[in-house]
Amino acid sequence: MASLLVLVSTGACRRQPSSESPRWETLPQAEAGQLRPLDAFERIEDRGLRSQALFLEASRVFFHPRCANCHPDGDSPFQDSGGQPHSPPVTRGPEDRGVVGMECAGCHQDHNLELARVPGAPNWHLAPRTMAWVGKTPRQVCEQLKDPARNGGKTLAQLVEHNAHDELVGWGWNPGAGREPAPGTQAHFGRIVAAWVATGAECPGEEARP
Ligand code: HEC
Ligand code: HEC
Repeated sequence: MASLLVLVSTGACRRQPSSESPRWETLPQAEAGQLRPLDAFERIEDRGLRSQALFLEASRVFFHPRCANCHPDGDSPFQDSGGQPHSPPVTRGPEDRGVVGMECAGCHQDHNLELARVPGAPNWHLAPRTMAWVGKTPRQVCEQLKDPARNGGKTLAQLVEHNAHDELVGWGWNPGAGREPAPGTQAHFGRIVAAWVATGAECPGEEARP
């Protein structure tokens, strides 16, 4: 709840919400490990604020360790619940695929290896530095996601498609070896990102947190 109040105070200050401003407190509490149902956001009447709330919901996935561990703002991935350095030490190398002798694909295959606890999915490699999320705010991630110079030249439609169907993204819900999956399902997450785009792809205020 506190985060929603923050959203009101930051996201709304530009808009001077009147008495019919959205009643954030009517958004249901998110259940652990779940994303809020899409229709919950329809209670927020202001389209721009609804868009911001949808992005904050999506950022519960973006910042989840299953995603953020591979979107670091440095040369090495993280592991476990986030913040723990990858063991053994590896670096991204010139093409985000590791260095000679320590390529990502040398250990990570196109599927999880349960016994060895090595996670895997097709084309396993590190997200480029321009797509780093660790250490950033939801607003900063929102802005860089929309920026073709930093998002791999994607349109908003391609961004929706990537989130809804990409296999590295999908691994976040099938991480193997007892790792906690990202909240919700990839399909539900894809619908939240699509609804964010459909409502104008607005970014939340700098202070807003999910
Ligand atoms: C020498 C083998 C090896 C190499 C090379 C390697 N990894 Fe890993 N990686 C592992 C193992 C083993 C784990 C599982 C650690 C654990 O959870 O116990 C892992 C875990 C990870 C995780 C954590 C997943 C999570 O959310 O917990 C990420 C992300 C990752 N590796 C990315 C990479 C990337 C990107 C590269 C190339 C730059 C790479 N790895 C190179 C063996 C390797
Ligand atoms: C194994 C590493 C890895 C994991 C895990 C991973 N990603 Fe990525 N991600 C990448 C790479 C590599 C790219 C760049 C690929 C491209 O541009 O096609 C990328 C790009 C993206 C992009 C494109 C745009 C941008 O600006 O960042 C989005 C969105 C994205 N990932 C979402 C996610 C989400 C959501 C999850 C978790 C559910 C996730 N990723 C987990 C490696 C990963």
